[in-house]
Amino acid sequence: MQLDGIEGRVAVVTGGARGIGRCIVETFRDLGANVAVLDLEPEEIDGVLSVAADVSDEADVEAAFAEIEQRLGPPQLAVLGAGILHKAPLEQHALADWQRVLDVNLTGPFLCARRVVGGMREAGYGRIVIIGSSAGIDGAGAAPPPLAGYAASKAGAMALAKSIAREYAPFGVTANALAPTLIDTGMLSTLSDDFRSAIPVGRYGRPQEVADLAVFLCSAHAGYITGEVVDINGGYLID
Ligand SMILES: NC(=O)c1ccc[n+]([C@@H]2O[C@H](COP(=O)([O-])OP(=O)(O)OC[C@H]3O[C@@H](n4cnc5c(N)ncnc54)[C@H](O)[C@@H]3O)[C@@H](O)[C@H]2O)c1
Repeated sequence: MQLDGIEGRVAVVTGGARGIGRCIVETFRDLGANVAVLDLEPEEIDGVLSVAADVSDEADVEAAFAEIEQRLGPPQLAVLGAGILHKAPLEQHALADWQRVLDVNLTGPFLCARRVVGGMREAGYGRIVIIGSSAGIDGAGAAPPPLAGYAASKAGAMALAKSIAREYAPFGVTANALAPTLIDTGMLSTLSDDFRSAIPVGRYGRPQEVADLAVFLCSAHAGYITGEVVDINGGYLID
């Protein structure tokens, strides 16, 4: 199937230097989008504008989007994927770690969506995809607890997508969230055990599988899908 609505559009991906985000960036680029990455530790990616920014820092976000708009134009497609994992038993969960996880995983998508959505509204067209997590649905995902801060941040980020969907549907802007579990990236390498047996399909997800879903939700074909939290978890959580 040919994917319409990507070629020639400006797409921004937060957390696009590595992992799932990187795969989304390369997929957008290969489909002909003009792509910008916003990442704390940006990497040079062929044919892509990389901007250094901390998504939880309002001034960084403003400066990054101003540069993207100046170099590429206002984004119509935004995948907000920058995120960090933190595991800690609740009784030992430091407040500073709780705040950092919420800052990056929840305030980050808020700041970026707030910055980008006005241009989409004015254009009468936009697509926002926030990368949540199955942990935000069932409290831990297929990796066992303790994930209190992470799970709470992801639940908030997925609710944010729903709220944006309701507010901006009349303006041609859709907003959806993804709820992956156990995708084979650098983030997984921070977990000590192997959790493949918890996944009915018997393997971890591939970053490209998440990228294909995110890019589809950003395409012209997905204009009637908004406010959804889309599971991508190998059958781990069927709800
Ligand atoms: N890998 C999984 O199993 C899995 C499962 C569910 C959800 N997710 C979510 O998918 C997203 C991508 O995860 P991944 O596995 O590709 O992780 P990753 O660690 O491979 O990549 C995350 C990227 O985000 C960037 N980043 C981190 N903090 C940032 C900040 N403050 N500002 C800007 N950039 C920042 C990093 O530099 C990195 O490039 C995350 O939101 C993660 O929570 C991942």
